[in-house]
Amino acid sequence: MSRSFVLYTIFLITTLALGAPTERHLKGRSFEVERVRRSNYIPHGLSAIKKAYRKFNISSTSFGLEALEYEPIDTPKTATNAANAAQGGTGGNGAVSATATANDAEFVSPVSIGGQTVMMDFDTGSSDLWVFNSQLPAADQKGHTVFDTTTSTSFKMLQGETFSISYGDGSSASGNVGTDIVNIGGATVQTQAVELAKNVSGSFLSDTSSNGLVGFAFSKLNTVKPTQQKTFFDNVASSLALPVMTVSLKSGSNQGSYEFGKIDTAKFTGQITNVSVNSANGFWEFDSTLFKVGDSGAMQQITTAPTAIADTGTSLMLVAPEAAQAYYAQVQGAMQDQTAGGYVFPCGATLPSFSIAVGGQNLATVPATVLNFATVGKDTQTGQTFCYGGIQSSGANQFMIFGDVFLKSMFVVFDQRGPSLGLASPT
Ligand SMILES: *[C@@H]1O[C@H](CO)[C@@H](O)[C@H](O)[C@H]1NC(C)=O
Ligand SMILES: *[C@@H]1O[C@H](CO)[C@@H](O)[C@H](O)[C@H]1NC(C)=O
Ligand SMILES: *[C@@H]1O[C@H](CO)[C@@H](O)[C@H](O)[C@H]1NC(C)=O
Repeated sequence: MSRSFVLYTIFLITTLALGAPTERHLKGRSFEVERVRRSNYIPHGLSAIKKAYRKFNISSTSFGLEALEYEPIDTPKTATNAANAAQGGTGGNGAVSATATANDAEFVSPVSIGGQTVMMDFDTGSSDLWVFNSQLPAADQKGHTVFDTTTSTSFKMLQGETFSISYGDGSSASGNVGTDIVNIGGATVQTQAVELAKNVSGSFLSDTSSNGLVGFAFSKLNTVKPTQQKTFFDNVASSLALPVMTVSLKSGSNQGSYEFGKIDTAKFTGQITNVSVNSANGFWEFDSTLFKVGDSGAMQQITTAPTAIADTGTSLMLVAPEAAQAYYAQVQGAMQDQTAGGYVFPCGATLPSFSIAVGGQNLATVPATVLNFATVGKDTQTGQTFCYGGIQSSGANQFMIFGDVFLKSMFVVFDQRGPSLGLASPT
């Protein structure tokens, strides 16, 4: 269950990098907030891929044609498994329950809304700030910290405004909208649109470690109607020393931080690779047209989805089908299994590293050590124990989705200048 956190190496094919940031002399403001890894987090492949496929409306036919039957190795008594079991998991087998819908937020951060602190998911793949709140039916509030609009003296309703985030499978979060003072680590917006869920689907309900989402994609994806609202990042940017948000996880630890307004040179080594972002689709999207498997593999072309987004709200690394297939062709005994929801391999198999282009001229290498996402279970036919891959197929989606498997051991700069993304090895 415990995965080692190994530094990612960014190989610069062409040097685009900056040295010591020139902005150091600027006496601007910056703010930091902790990024906490849930203590009871257990990676669960099927939940993780279902969540991503729902979010981006990807058809689950790409889960594969095989259908193995698994028996659990053991069933740790955790909130996640209990939730899975409660949702109809087979006899408490949290490992591979086809109906597992736990949202599985691995990292959460504290957000103050109208002076009330709630733990929320920071999601660079969406643009709404929505929160569990006092309007939800009491049963739906259970286990959650809710934002109580009635005790906030700064809360104001935005009359007539509503929001609705829907997923491919019909699940959703929807409700009305107000404004309040939102403070993230000291970075403060006085009238931030706060979306009040009145109806939340099961996957969000069961994940009691998170009480809502803070979207950090571009404001054009915000779902508030009739007046589209700005994200926290867009609202706060002009008051920061630099219009940036950085994400890092201290290597070898379960804690890290989001920092607004500053690129802290103490948080990375070497140079930052600056990748140009195309925000036309509303995401932190960049070119990614090449990949290779292993250190000595040949460079191969990505044709079906030659761009990728950086998404802190997704756990896995979803790559173009041809890249996922080429990767697992190099893993002995790997197969695409419907039951587990994607590529699995015998846990003892040797994994190669995976390198993929970020922007036109840079290649990022994800080491093998982080590519075993979770244990799935024991195949009842062969008795072999299978593991779930951290790399999975992005199916028919038009872009690849680089989630935490790719991002979490990197120092990442979400930079509104350009816009661009900066990537470096963390200290
Ligand atoms: C999801 O994709 C299907 C086609 O695969 C499409 O018919 C449907 O409208 C999409 N739903 C959303 C919410 O985008
Ligand atoms: C909540 O959303 C579901 C669809 O996800 C819908 O069937 C249900 O009617 C909604 N409930 C309310 C109270 O709006
Ligand atoms: C990245 O490039 C953009 C221009 O494309 C520039 O404005 C920005 O300052 C650069 N970011 C860093 C961290 O150097």
